[in-house]
Amino acid sequence: MALERILVVDDEETIREIICSQLSSAQFQTRQACSGVDALALLDSGEEFDLVLSDLMMAEMDGIALLERTKERFPSMPVVMVTAVHDIQVALQAIRNGAYDYLLKPFEREQLLAPVRRALETRRLKRENDAYRTNLEALVAARTQQWKGALADLERSYDLTLEALGGALDLKDAETQHHTRRVTAYTIAIARKMGLQKEEISVIARGAFLHDIGKMAIPDSILNKPGKLNEDEVAKMKEHSWLGYNILRKIPFLAHPAEIVYAHQERYDGTGYPRGLKGDEIPLGARIFSIADTLDAITSDRAYRPAQSFKAARKEIEEWSGRQFDPEIVRIFLEMPVNIWEDLRRDVDAQIVGFPQH
Ligand SMILES: [Fe+2]
Repeated sequence: MALERILVVDDEETIREIICSQLSSAQFQTRQACSGVDALALLDSGEEFDLVLSDLMMAEMDGIALLERTKERFPSMPVVMVTAVHDIQVALQAIRNGAYDYLLKPFEREQLLAPVRRALETRRLKRENDAYRTNLEALVAARTQQWKGALADLERSYDLTLEALGGALDLKDAETQHHTRRVTAYTIAIARKMGLQKEEISVIARGAFLHDIGKMAIPDSILNKPGKLNEDEVAKMKEHSWLGYNILRKIPFLAHPAEIVYAHQERYDGTGYPRGLKGDEIPLGARIFSIADTLDAITSDRAYRPAQSFKAARKEIEEWSGRQFDPEIVRIFLEMPVNIWEDLRRDVDAQIVGFPQH
């Protein structure tokens, strides 16, 4: 290990010699300066020192001035002052100005070495601490980067899982083939037109995509029944909002989309189910979804009626504004040209659009 280097400053050569010989015998490397000016020149030369040991009373630039300049240029450099008894007030002033300690003349070898060792130990600990903190900051930055990457991967894999889930439901519920994808695409288009934030749109898209996931728990005999459902079957079917919510709410990523799933059959005027929520009580995503869902239902073939045009769907949605739908969202929806919906439908049906990325 390299010897620690101490700069010894005193205008009396004899004292410098005594101090240096005592320090050398204790395995320190020393360098002498005969004045504050001389000491500063050595410090500025780039030569490295671990500690400055300086006399207080010197003809050319005294110890206090040297201390000030040293602290300005090398704030972490420990400075130990050496003083005669009658300078004690000045020595205390030096401590207040940032000196590590002071040493009263005359002193024995051990009285010199003790404060020098303490000052060097303090400096070493401070340096270790600084290095540790710098490393820690770098480590935290690196981990944060890794975590963000992992999170992005996780989100991607989540979206793939959602796609598989939606696909599974499409297979089970033959009538709604591609329905989930189209409704999701329409919902995103309206949310974008409304100027919602990317993160919010992502939540709403997931909710829209999974809106009917609760139908996985509805018996096929009801889901695919060719004729009209009886009262009990309708009641069973209506459970799908709550069932879907229950499937998703425990998954942290899907806790917010789950709220949209829960509320996707609510109506603006409070006549929907399962909770009969009204107006703003219905999550915004569910209010947007509701328009998208109706748009797709009207423009798709059903067993009991053929598909109608997007123009007809717009008209019907306009008529239900304020009753089934949020009038403000209907207003924005009506500003959007019909060809947007036609293009989206064509793209989704041609399987061009996967789970929408933003
Ligand atoms: Fe539904």
